[in-house]
Amino acid sequence: MATWLVTGANRGIGLELCRQIAARGDTVIGTARDPGAAAALRETGARVEALDVTDPASIDALGARLRGEPLDGLINNAGIGSFGGGVADLTAEHLARYFGVNASAPILVVRALLPSLRAGAGKKIAHVTSLMGSIADNGSGGAYGYRASKAALNMLNASLALELRREGFTCLVLNPGWVKTDMGGPGAPTLVDASVRGLLAVIDRSGPDVSGRFFNHDGRALPW
Ligand SMILES: NC(=O)c1ccc[n+]([C@@H]2O[C@H](COP(=O)([O-])OP(=O)(O)OC[C@H]3O[C@@H](n4cnc5c(N)ncnc54)[C@H](OP(=O)(O)O)[C@@H]3O)[C@@H](O)[C@H]2O)c1
Repeated sequence: MATWLVTGANRGIGLELCRQIAARGDTVIGTARDPGAAAALRETGARVEALDVTDPASIDALGARLRGEPLDGLINNAGIGSFGGGVADLTAEHLARYFGVNASAPILVVRALLPSLRAGAGKKIAHVTSLMGSIADNGSGGAYGYRASKAALNMLNASLALELRREGFTCLVLNPGWVKTDMGGPGAPTLVDASVRGLLAVIDRSGPDVSGRFFNHDGRALPW
C-alpha cells in the first residue's frame, strides 16, 4: 500500500485525486488551507493536513510534521487561474501571486517533503500544470500570469527530474484537460473523475525513463 500526498485537496481535481487514491486502497494525505472546512476531503478517507502554499513557513511546517514518515508520491495540484486582461492590465502583484502559487510553491513543497519522498519506495512526483503553459501551443495569447507561471513550473520540473533521476525518481508535469471544476467552469468538456482517472494512470505507468516529460491526462506527450 502506497502513501500519497496531494496539495489543494479540499475541492476540484485535488479532492477527486484523494477520492480515487483512497478508493483503490492506498493511503492519502490531502492538504487544505483550512482543514476545519474540509469535510468533503475527510469523507474520502484522507488524512487532512494544513497547508497554505503561499506561506513558506506553512510549507516547512508540513515537511517537519511528516519527517520520518515515508511518502511514495507527491501530487502538487494546488493552483490559481483566471485568464482575462491584456498587458496594460498587468500588475506586479498579479504576476508575483501567480508565480508564487503555481511555480514557486510546488518546488518548495518538493524541497520540504524530500526527506519523506526519499524514504518512500514509489519515488513519484507529479505537478498538475496546464496546456496553457505550453509556449508551442499558445495560439491565443492572454492569461499572462497563468501561462507564464505554468511554463515556469514545467522548467522547474525539468531541472528537478535531472537532479533526482539518479535516485530513481519520476518527476512529471501533467495537463488535466479543461475540467469542470470551480476553475474550469461549468462549460468545461472534461468531467473531473475522468481527468483524474487519466492522471493517475499516467503517474502509475511512468518510470524514470520518462522523468521530466509533459503529458496530457490521456497519456499523450505534449509540446513545450
Ligand atoms: N480545471 C481546469 O480546467 C484546469 C485546466 C488546466 C490545469 N488545471 C490545474 O489543475 C489544478 C487544480 O485545479 P482545479 O480545477 O481543481 O481548481 P479549483 O477547483 O479552483 O481548486 C484549486 C485548489 O487549489 C487550492 N489552492 C489555491 N491557492 C492555494 C494556496 N495558496 N494554498 C493552498 N491551496 C491553494 C484551493 O484551495 P482553496 O479552496 O483554499 O482556495 C483548491 O483546493 C490547478 O493547478 C490548475 O491550474 C486546471
